[in-house]
Amino acid sequence: MPLNLGDTVPDFSCDSSVGQIHYYDYVGDEHWSIICSHPSDFTPVCSTELGNLSKLLPQFEKRHCKVLALSCDSAESHRKWIEDINASGYCGNTKKDGGVSYPILADEERALAVKFGMLDPAEKDERGMPLTCRAVFIVDDHKKLRATILYPATTGRNFYEILRVVDSLQLTDEYPVATPANWERGERVAVTPSTPDEVAAVVLGDFAVVKVPSGKTYLRLAKDPSSKTPKVLKRGIVEMILGTEYGAKLLPTVGRLVVSFILGGVFAGAATKTKETATATTQNGGRKKR
Ligand code: BEZ
Repeated sequence: MPLNLGDTVPDFSCDSSVGQIHYYDYVGDEHWSIICSHPSDFTPVCSTELGNLSKLLPQFEKRHCKVLALSCDSAESHRKWIEDINASGYCGNTKKDGGVSYPILADEERALAVKFGMLDPAEKDERGMPLTCRAVFIVDDHKKLRATILYPATTGRNFYEILRVVDSLQLTDEYPVATPANWERGERVAVTPSTPDEVAAVVLGDFAVVKVPSGKTYLRLAKDPSSKTPKVLKRGIVEMILGTEYGAKLLPTVGRLVVSFILGGVFAGAATKTKETATATTQNGGRKKR
């Protein structure tokens, strides 16, 4: 049975470019993970993909997300191929990061590919055995499968899209919001339909209701709640400091901007905590139960 969204991704052990991998041990309890399969080593598109994934590794790390690749080639083949990828220029600054450092799983028997539904019947090796498609499995820190994307062999993936999906999943776990088409971090989000206006106002601050012919008010847009401290709080603190005679004398205009910027960062954490408390007290006012 292939995995469905929300299923627990089972633990597994598999040889890899960096030796035997025990999936749960490798990922740990606090990290998300992505498992990306590709059709075959020593092929052009796969080389660009795995190089690009290496270049973007710091972006995945920022999101507490471990990366694993997978194909039906041997670990030895992966290690040889990595030398090519590292020399190809697709990895970015290989001197600094050492090139492909995440494990490439060697699923020679296709045990994982079958279990996870990653085989593409249209792509076969020279022995007529099916190859893995370009699958992406995004798994959260509870080992639940949160998203999958499948591409055919002839279409290379856009790894910025995968980062974007991780951003969306992590944001919508924390706040009662959903991310609109083509959304990127910092852009406006939609309030989830199940969230009452009063709850949205507390948790997300001001939101706009888009007028539509039906007269219904389902299209409610709010600021990305992860981006910064609510303006009103930031403004209040800055005004409080600068409003004093001492503050006004001390700080030229540029200084005021710097203080405003710093306070924005310092108080972002506190504001997030307040929002989380509000979310919890609304008894799942949009927060997903996992
Ligand atoms: C490639 O990675 O370039 C590729 C692999 C299998 C089929 C077609 C293209």
